[in-house]
Amino acid sequence: MLLIQHLCGWAWVTSMIPYGDSLRKQRAILHRFFQFPEVLNYKELQERECHLFLRRLVDSPENYDRHIRRLPASILGLNTYGHEVKDDNDRYLELGEESAEMTIEAVNYLYLDFLPWMRFLPAWFPGGSFQKFVEESRKLSTLFRNEIYALNKNKRTITTLMNFVLAMLKYPEVQRRAQEEIDVVVGNDRLPTFKDRAQLPYIRALCLELLRWQAILPLGFIHTAAEEDVYHGYRIPAGTMVIPNVWAISRNEDIYPKPLDFIPERWLPGGSSLNSFRPDEYVFGYGRRICPGQVWAEHMIFIAVVSILEAFKIEKALDSDGEPIPPNENHKPAAIRLLGPSECMIAPRSEKIASMICDCAGTLS
Ligand code: HEM
Repeated sequence: MLLIQHLCGWAWVTSMIPYGDSLRKQRAILHRFFQFPEVLNYKELQERECHLFLRRLVDSPENYDRHIRRLPASILGLNTYGHEVKDDNDRYLELGEESAEMTIEAVNYLYLDFLPWMRFLPAWFPGGSFQKFVEESRKLSTLFRNEIYALNKNKRTITTLMNFVLAMLKYPEVQRRAQEEIDVVVGNDRLPTFKDRAQLPYIRALCLELLRWQAILPLGFIHTAAEEDVYHGYRIPAGTMVIPNVWAISRNEDIYPKPLDFIPERWLPGGSSLNSFRPDEYVFGYGRRICPGQVWAEHMIFIAVVSILEAFKIEKALDSDGEPIPPNENHKPAAIRLLGPSECMIAPRSEKIASMICDCAGTLS
């Protein structure tokens, strides 16, 4: 745990607890609810919320970022607190995002770990500006602890889906191939479900490539070596800070030819990376601290991607001269590579599918 995280009152958060009994207890609870077999019980809810999300997208596609923001939160809120997110201004949703942003901002104060005496500087003194951040974070930490812990993880899934829209805008041929597969397997008389997954190899490859391409957590979580170790001839003294460079792994040209391009085909039989290091083996962390929400998040990504692709065409918007507007690719340089919306056109692929979504969502709401 970083000193700033300790000062902000986040020592109780699972990812900040050093390995030991307390962490084992917390992880056992998380595993019970977010891993097999319990995680399978959430599939129905994930499908249902996805259908309601499609309905919101039919009504106001220009607000796609708001709808994406709400989708995983609705499910996490129901799964963990039985709380239903009823609109975009939901208090839980906002607090969850605020706390996630503070977690991200905390990395800016990493220097305190190297100059710990600075923690005593008053706010008005040069270098003491972190004190204001600490004060605000402490207030949120209490609220967060008592009410909205799980929603802090919402940001990662949101960011994955925002990157999915960006990939579809940049790579229309990938979108076309994915939709061809869906049309054959799912048809256009019903919405997709998890049961279709086994018959959709291209969509599975697309979801895997999305995890690699976006590298939303370019530097994995910071850990400290509990004891001295040797790695490839390098001595790592106990207490050393270890930061996995997920960005470099995901951009390794030897493993992933043309690493900056979005190429789901690399994961298909005969593809260049089929037998390589898979992104789902490193973007969720490793070993005993691996992300306990991984299965839940991968299910969420699959059902959202396949549902959006069956129902909508995603295209670049045109400017007043009829020229395509380049999508927004400005990821925020932070612990999570947050991405804002692009100007784009998201339209139902047919009248039939639009009315099917409306009928289906009508019976759910
Ligand atoms: C695309 C979505 C997600 C990604 C990429 C992701 C990634 C990660 C990573 C890299 C870690 C750090 C692992 C390490 O310390 O080595 C982590 C930890 C964690 N994640 Fe996720 N995560 C995602 C979604 C979720 C969701 C939806 C939940 C909640 C259900 C969740 C709950 C947690 C928790 C509690 C930890 C701390 C585990 C510990 O320190 O022992 N994550 N995640």
